[in-house]
Amino acid sequence: MVYLITGSNGLLGQKLLQKFKNIDCEIIATSKGENKNPETGFYKYENLDITNKTRVFEVVNKYKPNAIINTAALTNVDLCEDEKELCDHINTIAVGYLADVALEVNAHLIHISTDFIFDGQKSLYDEEDTPNPLSYYGKSKLNSEKLLFNHNCRWSVLRTIVIYGVGKNLEKNNIVIWAKNQLEQGNSINIIDDEFRAPTFADDLAEACVQTFQNEAYGIIHVSGKEMMSIFEIVERVAKFYNFDTSLINRIKSKELNQKAKRPPKTSFNLEKAKRKINYSPKSFLESLNIIDKQLLN
Ligand SMILES: NC(=O)c1ccc[n+]([C@@H]2O[C@H](COP(=O)([O-])OP(=O)(O)OC[C@H]3O[C@@H](n4cnc5c(N)ncnc54)[C@H](OP(=O)(O)O)[C@@H]3O)[C@@H](O)[C@H]2O)c1
Repeated sequence: MVYLITGSNGLLGQKLLQKFKNIDCEIIATSKGENKNPETGFYKYENLDITNKTRVFEVVNKYKPNAIINTAALTNVDLCEDEKELCDHINTIAVGYLADVALEVNAHLIHISTDFIFDGQKSLYDEEDTPNPLSYYGKSKLNSEKLLFNHNCRWSVLRTIVIYGVGKNLEKNNIVIWAKNQLEQGNSINIIDDEFRAPTFADDLAEACVQTFQNEAYGIIHVSGKEMMSIFEIVERVAKFYNFDTSLINRIKSKELNQKAKRPPKTSFNLEKAKRKINYSPKSFLESLNIIDKQLLN
């Protein structure tokens, strides 16, 4: 088996590399920049900007993978409001290149989408619920899904919510690691208490990607953590886990942040399809904190 990962420098990309390390397969890690993964030797690395169509076809045809897992994206939601063309190219148009080449080499394309395709009014979303993105990022991801619905390649879309976990040299820090670092240094932090999410442990999501391929589970699957909580509660639970001073955490409202992009107030997923199709069994938030704590020691 040959697996090709795009965006292998990102959090999910790094976790996928670690997952595949324990599986008998050939791994092709690709990302836009230089390789940021600390471990090398058990995979090949290729520079691949997924917006470069020629290069996408060249790299994929070189290795003819059985699966392409697309974790590459412009994930800065506010930047997407300002850089709409770039956002469209990375989050939508490039997915079309990957789908075209997947069809050519008969690879299973596993693409990652987001809860931000929903408006957050319903809070617990099924795969069949009607999307209504509030942000350009959400629109670009929804457009990537629509592109796949009409494509003849073998595709899966895993929609997910707020990914957290331990990575190395990451461009973007995630809420759990960021909050731990801030509170550890005794910094006071302002955290919103009016947005609710079911945060997803990156290690669980990486396992879901592997299972999606191994079970030939096509179509849309919702994959997230199983507990919905406010962003404030996420941070508070991190603080309590590490016995940090919770008075350092100030409650604020989302409108005080003056963010460019609108966010859905409440998102969590019905995980029944994921359980049925890919044996998805996410860790509890507390279990994931215990694992993160051990990973940080290494
Ligand atoms: N993070 C979340 O909370 C969240 C929530 C819902 C859905 N998602 C989705 O989940 C997926 C993985 O998210 P993540 O948090 O692991 O992302 P991430 O840490 O932001 O990593 C994304 C990676 O994509 C790479 N990339 C950016 N533009 C590229 C391009 N043109 N060509 C190739 N690679 C490019 C970057 O690699 P370089 O470092 O090499 O530039 C970056 O490391 C994304 O599709 C995201 O939209 C994320």
